[in-house]
Amino acid sequence: MRIFSGIQPTGKLHIGNYVGAIKQWLELQLKHKCLFCIVDLHAITIPYDPKNFQEVIFQKAVEYLACGINPEKSIIFVQSYVKEHTELTWLLNTITPMGDLSRMTQFKEKSKQFKKIVGAGLFNYPILMAADILLYQTDIVPVGKDQQQHVELARTLARAFNRKFGKTFRVPELMLPKLGAKIMSLQNPKQKMSKSIPRSCLFLVDEPNVIREKIMTAVTDPGKEIVYDLKRKPGISNLLTIYSLFSEMPIKKLEEDFKGRGYKELKKSLVKVLVQSLEPIRRKRKELLKREVYVQEVLNQGAKKAQVIAQSTMTEVRKKMGLV
Ligand code: TYM
Repeated sequence: MRIFSGIQPTGKLHIGNYVGAIKQWLELQLKHKCLFCIVDLHAITIPYDPKNFQEVIFQKAVEYLACGINPEKSIIFVQSYVKEHTELTWLLNTITPMGDLSRMTQFKEKSKQFKKIVGAGLFNYPILMAADILLYQTDIVPVGKDQQQHVELARTLARAFNRKFGKTFRVPELMLPKLGAKIMSLQNPKQKMSKSIPRSCLFLVDEPNVIREKIMTAVTDPGKEIVYDLKRKPGISNLLTIYSLFSEMPIKKLEEDFKGRGYKELKKSLVKVLVQSLEPIRRKRKELLKREVYVQEVLNQGAKKAQVIAQSTMTEVRKKMGLV
């Protein structure tokens, strides 16, 4: 099966990105043909700094590798290196209803956040994402919950294109993690952990003292009991989810272990788990930062391999649309 997923280069990876996307990727790359993309063209739909943009992209490649994405097994590449993404986006534009785009939750949220400068790029963002996915005849798209609506649009567009021009695209399936599809903010457990609010995040590169500070001050709920209950105890439920995902211990077992113990003990223990689990990523990242030539070579080779698949799909698409 073919797997495709991507992450925007701007902002450091947080544990939500790790659990929602990368943790799934690490398992999938053992068995399937995977493409993992750094989606730079998505990142420029909101304000960004062109001067350090190449550095930001390089940092994201380092983070992918530090997490254990293996370039021997998976194709790691930068979206803009493969021009077919923009070509397919334009072609899919022509069959995308405006109504579908205006219903997108992420568009509504971001256009509120960047009120003065809502560009057409932000509106058309989900079409570029559909192009990313369909270009590689993807079977499965492993993402977090916030991307579900976008993957559904990709499915809709694949079906619409196939109906109109004849069978061309595979219809991709969404893959959400069973636990952790939506990690919540440490400061407000009713909101998603999001890099646009750095205070809400625990970053993979955070040093042990920062991890301690962020977890010990994480917002919890009234009462003392340590139970998983999203309605009554969203803060504790979020911490239990994170604990379970990084310790591989089921939530039920954690509830038993922490029975009669306070929130502070849970937090202290979680700090230990996180410091230990994230240490190898931090260490590997520091090593990779010194290997610029190697990282750039991974991206160049990745783009070459991705392009072969992309070009083959585009030959078919152009033919079907009467463009050759
Ligand atoms: P991005 O860069 O915002 O997020 C990257 C991945 O992290 C997941 N994620 C979370 N998962 C759980 N809890 C959270 N709090 C959390 N926050 C983020 C996201 O669901 C995502 O899987 N548009 C996409 C990137 C993209 C893409 C694609 C993904 C572009 N083309 C094609 C898949 C296929 C985005 O902005 O993700």
